[in-house]
Amino acid sequence: MNPKNNHAAVRAQFPILQQKCNGYPLIYLDSAATTQKPKAVIAAMNDYYQQDNANVHRAAHCLSARATQQFEQVRGQVAQFINAPTREQIIWTKGATEAINLVAQSYGRLFNSGDEILLSTMEHHANIVPWQQLAQQRNLVLKVIPLTGQGELDMAAFAELLTERTRMVAITHVSNVLGTVNPMAEIISMSHQVGAKVLVDGSQAVAHMPVDVQALDCDFYVFSGHKMYGPTGIGVLYGKAELLNAMPVWQTGGEMIKKVSFAATTFNPIPFKFEPGTPNISGVIGLGAAIEFINNLDRTALHHHEQTLLAYARAQLEQINEVTLVGQPRQPMAVISFIVNGEHHSDIATLLDQQGIAIRAGHHCAMPLMDTLGLNGTLRLSFACYTAQSDIDAFISALQKTLEFL
Ligand SMILES: Cc1ncc(COP(=O)(O)O)c(C=O)c1O
Repeated sequence: MNPKNNHAAVRAQFPILQQKCNGYPLIYLDSAATTQKPKAVIAAMNDYYQQDNANVHRAAHCLSARATQQFEQVRGQVAQFINAPTREQIIWTKGATEAINLVAQSYGRLFNSGDEILLSTMEHHANIVPWQQLAQQRNLVLKVIPLTGQGELDMAAFAELLTERTRMVAITHVSNVLGTVNPMAEIISMSHQVGAKVLVDGSQAVAHMPVDVQALDCDFYVFSGHKMYGPTGIGVLYGKAELLNAMPVWQTGGEMIKKVSFAATTFNPIPFKFEPGTPNISGVIGLGAAIEFINNLDRTALHHHEQTLLAYARAQLEQINEVTLVGQPRQPMAVISFIVNGEHHSDIATLLDQQGIAIRAGHHCAMPLMDTLGLNGTLRLSFACYTAQSDIDAFISALQKTLEFL
């Protein structure tokens, strides 16, 4: 399927987009917060509950066998999707946030007082607060890589901040505010030279670009299903096998154990040692359908489609005197932040909402970035495979009306 040529067919897979909000056709430009779901994802979850619902791994009956077979098959699908060497290296979590907490609270327990963690100024709170908590618990040093004026990582500063005490470099693949795509391969190779491990927050990357964890050579890669056309409440932690095997267990309980007695407990091997309790089975099955949906798209054409929209929207916004774009990364991805001079971002977003336009306003869970930019928030447009040029035209015309009104 070529989204450029068959865009209407791709868009038709998203029933939610065929509605009016506040009396206007819905224009959804908030896909970085969560993407909409194609019919196939909704149907897969529905079918599971109608035909196959049972708990996985435990029971010896036919429903459980079917549920387990589908559930474990998706693990293999995810491994293929990011080119993980084995399916056992795919750990189910609630989302990227939980995956980062897992690494911080498990791998991080191997760190010693004075060890250093490097983050960047553009991180989402999900990739800041878990490390900050760990730093407080274990007396570690958090260091922050600054940005250039364009909103890219300052690689010279990064090189200086890396030391032999750096144990972890945790960086977002794509910024959820600026759309910056970080040079992960270079960051990873530089980090490995000082013996540091690298966690890549792929939340904003996986829906927009092919990811190959072996080519990147990252130590951990995390993402959420709901930002890639899948359901909420399911996410993925990928890790190198030797690291996952060496890591202590984090959350504990049923499913993750081999043998329990009141004297002692032994644990299952990966992936199960990190998956206590009944998992989000329907979420995993929905994620499998989302991956199939993405795999059926022509990803090169999709990339071209999203890049064309991004350039078009930036050019349109640049024509409006009252608008200032926030960040000028050389190769932005699927996200544009801007402010309207002299107006509060929430007022603009509310007035746009009254015209059926859904965009995001605020700090985007990146308060340290906002502080650095000297802003209390921005307006953010974000795109996905279903976004059309007509969405941008409708948004620009509503923004112009809003500015006239103000
Ligand atoms: C870059 C980035 N990292 C992490 C997250 C957290 O994702 P989740 O809330 O699905 O755990 C987000 C969500 O907006 C994000 O954009």
